[in-house]
Amino acid sequence: MNILLTGGAGYIGSHTCVMLLEQGHDVIVVDNLCNSKVESLKRVEKITGKKIPFYQKDLCNLPSINEIFTQNSIDAVIHFAGLKSVAESVDQPLTYYQNNIDGTLVLCEAMQAHGVKHLVFSSSATVYGNPETVPIDENAPVGAFNPYGRSKLFIEEILSDLYVSDKSWNIALLRYFNPVGAHFSGLIGEDPFGRPNNLMPYVSQVAVGKLPELMVYGDDYDTPDGTGVRDYIHVMDLAKGHLKALEKLTSDPGLVIYNQGTGKGYSVLEMVTAFEKAAGKKIPYKIVGRRPGDIPTCYADPSSAEKELGWTALGY
Ligand code: NAD
Ligand code: WQD
Repeated sequence: MNILLTGGAGYIGSHTCVMLLEQGHDVIVVDNLCNSKVESLKRVEKITGKKIPFYQKDLCNLPSINEIFTQNSIDAVIHFAGLKSVAESVDQPLTYYQNNIDGTLVLCEAMQAHGVKHLVFSSSATVYGNPETVPIDENAPVGAFNPYGRSKLFIEEILSDLYVSDKSWNIALLRYFNPVGAHFSGLIGEDPFGRPNNLMPYVSQVAVGKLPELMVYGDDYDTPDGTGVRDYIHVMDLAKGHLKALEKLTSDPGLVIYNQGTGKGYSVLEMVTAFEKAAGKKIPYKIVGRRPGDIPTCYADPSSAEKELGWTALGY
């Protein structure tokens, strides 16, 4: 297949490029580089030995996006492009709604105009808000509680409305839990601009001495060691999930929703200990107060993806 990846220069997009190219697909990337560097795509080319057509364009610009569809014969789109910081979204809600929702509307308009109807969308476990029970399956109630999460939820609803209006679309909403790790070559990985918000890039920067110590946000949750529990999924397993979802779209499933997680929860301190063991060095940390908006525990029931896609997160 010839697959357009929006946001393909970013963390998850670049790893998915490797997976798709290695499986014999062709990829085209559009990214405005607001949170990534073109270097990541050069490194994907180095890993795979294949060239990647790249458009440095903003997804919110309809003429630019139409041009990409006119110039290329595209079979399917994986839509990663979006802003993703929860804290920033609270400070700049309009920027988040504008970028994430407008970008999606423009993309769908261009796809519709060019008869491209296979779409995989990067949603997030954040749409489940504070879950009533764990593990969380796809039928759990949704209800995000920050602008970033709501932008994901609104996009899920927009795409569902689009499908209801025209059943020739095939759309997979993938709800990622906590993606971590990097391609084994070490050439690509998670390299966020500015101070990392997420746990593992923060720990990595402490490990290399870029940051002095990790702040562990709360040790008084109702969890085995008091720190937050999450479902950390390796980014290459997640990349494989996209490949499997694309294969599913070609069988004409309509609109489908899959969790992308391992089904196992680990605490912050367990993650720190595992990192220390793997890296062979201590990660200095101190316990501080809870981070506003954090939930105690979140992990997936990934059985739908296992049954319907033949995918598990422990397979790469
Ligand atoms: P990332 O920031 O590394 O990648 C997103 C890419 O989109 C970046 O390269 C950025 O430059 C690009 N982009 C943003 N707005 C754009 C626009 N208007 N036009 C063109 N390009 C644009 O993030 P990531 O971690 O790779 O996440 C990919 C997707 O997965 C995002 O939609 C994110 O919300 C979602 N997601 C991420 C996580 C996570 O923890 N990493 C979890 C759940 C969902
Ligand atoms: C994990 C655990 C923190 C940083 C966020 C978004 C979610 C999704 C993934 C996109 C929590 C603790 C963290 C630190 C810490 N993104 N922590 N010190 O909060 O589960 O999810 O990223 O969709 O929408 O909300 O991930 O990596 O920030 O935190 O103690 O410096 O690590 O409290 O328990 P989170 P995270």
